[in-house]
Amino acid sequence: MCGIIGYVGEKNASDILITGLKRLEYRGYDSVGIALVNSDLYVKKQIGKIAELSSGLDHNKLAKYTTGIGHTRWATHGIPSDINAHPHCDCRNEIAVVHNGIIENYAVIKKMLIKYGHNLKSDTDTEVIVHLIEYYYQKYSLLDSVLKALSKLEGTYGILVVSKKEPHKIIAAKKGSPLILGIGESEMVIASDASAIVEHTQKVIYVEDNEVIELEKDSFKTYGLDKKAIDKRIEDINWDIESIEKQGFDHFMLKEIFEQPETITNAFRGRMLADTGSIRLDGLNLSDKELNEIERIIFIACGTSFHAGIIGEYLIEEFARIPVEVEYASEFRYRKPILKKGDLAIVISQSGETADTLAGLQEAKTLGIKVLGITNVVGSTIARETDGGVYIHAGPEIGVASTKAFTSQVSVLILLTLLLARKRQNTAEEIKLYIKHFKEIPEIVTKILAKDNEIKEIAKQYKDSKNFLYLGRGVQYPVALEGALKLKEISYVHAEGYPAAEMKHGPIALIDENMPVVIIAPKDEVYSKVINNMEEIKARNGKIIAVAFEGDEDIQNYADHVIYVPGVRKMFAPLVTVIPLQMLAYHIAVLRGCDVDQPRNLAKSVTVE
Ligand code: G6P
Repeated sequence: MCGIIGYVGEKNASDILITGLKRLEYRGYDSVGIALVNSDLYVKKQIGKIAELSSGLDHNKLAKYTTGIGHTRWATHGIPSDINAHPHCDCRNEIAVVHNGIIENYAVIKKMLIKYGHNLKSDTDTEVIVHLIEYYYQKYSLLDSVLKALSKLEGTYGILVVSKKEPHKIIAAKKGSPLILGIGESEMVIASDASAIVEHTQKVIYVEDNEVIELEKDSFKTYGLDKKAIDKRIEDINWDIESIEKQGFDHFMLKEIFEQPETITNAFRGRMLADTGSIRLDGLNLSDKELNEIERIIFIACGTSFHAGIIGEYLIEEFARIPVEVEYASEFRYRKPILKKGDLAIVISQSGETADTLAGLQEAKTLGIKVLGITNVVGSTIARETDGGVYIHAGPEIGVASTKAFTSQVSVLILLTLLLARKRQNTAEEIKLYIKHFKEIPEIVTKILAKDNEIKEIAKQYKDSKNFLYLGRGVQYPVALEGALKLKEISYVHAEGYPAAEMKHGPIALIDENMPVVIIAPKDEVYSKVINNMEEIKARNGKIIAVAFEGDEDIQNYADHVIYVPGVRKMFAPLVTVIPLQMLAYHIAVLRGCDVDQPRNLAKSVTVE
């Protein structure tokens, strides 16, 4: 979704903005632009990629500009076009604004501005912001004009504003869209995402909603919307530039798939005490009493995080015997859910910024229940607004299609299951055994990753298929959903995930010799049922790609291809069965010539509703 970056310092701002925008590329975008200020205002914006914009810039000529703002746009109001791209400028070409978010009352404001003689050129909601600022700027300073304009806006925003009349300054403001300020030596970099900041500085402040910052190269002042000064705490970002580079891999997604042995380890490191058979998740901020009193857990999430939530549901209900519900955040926030004492809400979000998940969090809080978070991005809005939670410590995930964050989320959900199971059902000895098995998982994942070529060969045979079906039962059902999602996200092939037995109630009508069916069939208590489903597919000439446990020779009688993974206990099985599905989707997308890391229309972090 839209990315924004601003720089004020002593260096060539255009270079820094372009590099920063490239770091934000992964968020998904359709157009790009920059504005540079000195005694004049230079604006360049267009539909298409950052590299195209950059190649049209004379970087040497632009070296005189040491302040500027940049934007990658993901269209919401108005089609992707040069005119709709940000930055947007006022009538006099003095002020430029970039914006992430949605201004809900823009139509009313636009009408008023046109009545006052303003000339608005685009179809965007954003353009009203800059003209409103212009309206006040005739009388007030830039800071005061921004504050006055904000008081008229409804909706969400992360904005950066520059003016040629106050050229060495950026005014930034936030409500509902992320904004992080990086504090360097005689320079400030402000962005919607830490990945655009880390190469300049590790010192940051997290801008909160309804805060406005006035930035100059050596200073920043933070205000509330009432212009009262606010003290901010400077924090350290704990990741470095290597973690956001491809490091020899063709794509970020592939790198992230291959990082999973390490990221799963990071998710459980220090949290499993093998000698006492106990689990430590201190960040939950729940006393023993509170843990014992949980009567129901509600997971709230979107996309891949939602699939992790369903795995959490299956595991917690089976192993800890606590009722669990999983809700799409976008539904939860509006469907007037009934929550009661004893309920615990847990929001799951890789980015910690997904607008619907954030709104779900707020809805649950309003309804008076405790809300915890399972997030990856340290300091993200969701991490800060929850009552407690667990970081998954997967490191920056750049590929739009989530892979390592998913297995890390599942790993944390396994830890939560074990923590609750120890409280309710299991002895320390039993938990010790689970801990031992969990520690073996990263090595098992490494073995599966070694099957990359084998999976690529299968991908070659099915790369032109128009539809795929993914089937699994029990805890493998959400894995099937996730496998199908991976394929459609990055290869634009239609794919459906289904509980295997539900196939008979509809999808079976689609099966013929052109329909590959990916079946996850580990040796568990429903194995024989899944074999029956495979027979039904074979009887209709469907092609079967099975994911099965090593040693299961029999399955070859039913499947056209078998991808073997080492056998593991049911609790850990999703962590191993999902890996081949990620690799299959990756290879099919590459073979189809798709842009794996930046699939069309998708955004990594969906910060608008
Ligand atoms: C977008 C991303 C998905 C992600 C979903 C939820 O759709 O493309 O990869 O699963 O948002 O994001 P979150 O950051 O809340 O986990």
